[in-house]
Amino acid sequence: MDVTEVVHWGRDLDEYCQMFALTDQDLDKRILGCSDGPACFNAEMTRQKRSVVSFDPLYGLPLAHIEERVRHGAEFGRSYSSAHRHDLFRWGTQGYTNVDDVADRHEAAMSLFLDDFRTEGEGQRYVAGGLPELPFADDSFDLALCGHYLFLYSHLLSLRYHLDSIHQLLRVAREVRIHPLIDLTPARSPYVEPVINALRAEGHHISLLDLGRYERLANGGNVTLQICRR
Ligand SMILES: C[S@@+](CC[C@H](N)C(=O)[O-])C[C@H]1O[C@@H](n2cnc3c(N)ncnc32)[C@H](O)[C@@H]1O
Repeated sequence: MDVTEVVHWGRDLDEYCQMFALTDQDLDKRILGCSDGPACFNAEMTRQKRSVVSFDPLYGLPLAHIEERVRHGAEFGRSYSSAHRHDLFRWGTQGYTNVDDVADRHEAAMSLFLDDFRTEGEGQRYVAGGLPELPFADDSFDLALCGHYLFLYSHLLSLRYHLDSIHQLLRVAREVRIHPLIDLTPARSPYVEPVINALRAEGHHISLLDLGRYERLANGGNVTLQICRR
């Protein structure tokens, strides 16, 4: 199945904690959820009285269009997961036993996002816009997370775009975490090494966080890139 555009397919807080290796201490930071889209990370964190600003072009659309994108994302995600069930996932490591478990969990997360967004709307917690620009002042956040967008859509986004986007994320937050590092073939994105080399040459501190038993995706999908500003 060809993926010709970015899919709206979101995850829950528990999955965010695992894919970004978030500790309780991390959750108390000022967090930017870049490309959060229809994830319910913000909704669940807000219930816990924690602070997240989610940023995504999705939030600028009329509500009916957002609902339609989420519906389409849910359908596409279910059939894509089914088509790639042998090469994309590591079964059993995350309590997932089959494609329907994965899809059902995403649908529950997106439904929670929609409930929250219907009440909250675009504004303080959900900010509309798109990388490589970020409409936030320098150091507005302690930690910026970007899940299932950079690297994953390498066939649609250039290396220059990745570097510009990461520079922006590092401008608004001292620490950035990106997950996963695979593209949709699925194999490690060809941009991972050049991005790491460029950022290291600029003096930033790079770590590859091994997510250990939390190996939800195949081909190195259990690694998160952590960049700490120099
Ligand atoms: C697969 S979803 C990931 C949702 C969430 N981060 C997660 O991991 O569950 C990818 C998101 O990237 C967003 N996106 C597309 N273009 C973008 C851009 N220029 N800047 C930031 N995010 C973008 C999409 O709108 C979509 O919500």
